Amino acid sequence: MSQDFLPLKGTDYVELYVGNAKQSALYYQYAFGYQLIAYAGPETGVKDRASYVLKQDKIRLVLTSPLHPEGEIAAHIQRHGDGVKVLALWVDDAKQSWKETTNRGAESAMEPKTLRDEFGEVVVASIKTYGDTIHTFVERKNYNGIFLPGYQPKSNTYAATSIGLKYIDHCVGNVELGKMNHWVKFYENVMGFKLLITFDDEDISTEYSALMSKVVSNGNGYIKFPINEPAQGKKKSQIEEYLDFYHGPGVQHIAIATDDIIHTVSELRNRGVEFLVVPSSYYDDLLDRMGKIDEDLRPLKELNILVDRDDEGYLLQIFTKPVQDRPTLFFEIIQRKGAKSFGKGNFKALFEAIEREQGLRGNL
Ligand code: FE2
Repeated sequence: MSQDFLPLKGTDYVELYVGNAKQSALYYQYAFGYQLIAYAGPETGVKDRASYVLKQDKIRLVLTSPLHPEGEIAAHIQRHGDGVKVLALWVDDAKQSWKETTNRGAESAMEPKTLRDEFGEVVVASIKTYGDTIHTFVERKNYNGIFLPGYQPKSNTYAATSIGLKYIDHCVGNVELGKMNHWVKFYENVMGFKLLITFDDEDISTEYSALMSKVVSNGNGYIKFPINEPAQGKKKSQIEEYLDFYHGPGVQHIAIATDDIIHTVSELRNRGVEFLVVPSSYYDDLLDRMGKIDEDLRPLKELNILVDRDDEGYLLQIFTKPVQDRPTLFFEIIQRKGAKSFGKGNFKALFEAIEREQGLRGNL
């Protein structure tokens, strides 16, 4: 097999541009159990923005707001609302990653540059992906500071307790009708990813709407990016609703892994996070469909956690409702027990739940 020209060590961080980073940071600490670890803003010499860095196990979330109406951050929020700007990828050589991908046709968003402070140096470079979303390559092998040069350690008097979120399992992009294959080819040709799975509208159509999805993954499988596009249905698909409100392609959901989904989801619910609800009939014959599982049925049913099985095992999953007023970004909580798939058996129940919400918003 040919050498991987873009070896990725994992997700480095996810950065959201939000209207009020100070308040969003408290939401993610309080509701999702992240710890505030670092900050950059006027007090640290950054004049045009404020950024809060939150951490839980391997996950780093950066929340950034602009301080003035000019500039790309304010424009991004104006158009998209709160949303994901950067899916940052951890690499050994950021310059080489940028060169390999731009040579293969990626559009540069930022040429390689070295950031330095007393804790060492970090090399970063960015390329564009769907919509206004970018991938930033982060090379941090010569750095031992808290996050990136320019950020200072920051904690909060509110000590959030972890809810067991461990790492990012996959990040899903929604793109326009007819563009899914374009972006699958981008990940294959420009980034050396492989097509893992294809879902067509036979797999995932409901009474009203449908979507198509293909999942691409990098060489070591650490990075998985499903790409969705709307498919023809009776009414407006959930992907079209997203595109209408995000005003273009973008990140639809981030799936976060836990080792104890019952604990994680109980905590999230106690802290006010809202989830999609499937009918209780889903659970009537669940064990007949799934065979033996380790968990008791009752807490799964109470918490509305879904189960699916593939050849290698099973998985438990649940979707939050959108985490902002626009029906755009949401989170998935997933616990894998051998299964490497994405819960195809739950698509119908989940998408019908999304459509009930869409209906309430008058967007179906
Ligand atoms: Fe997912």
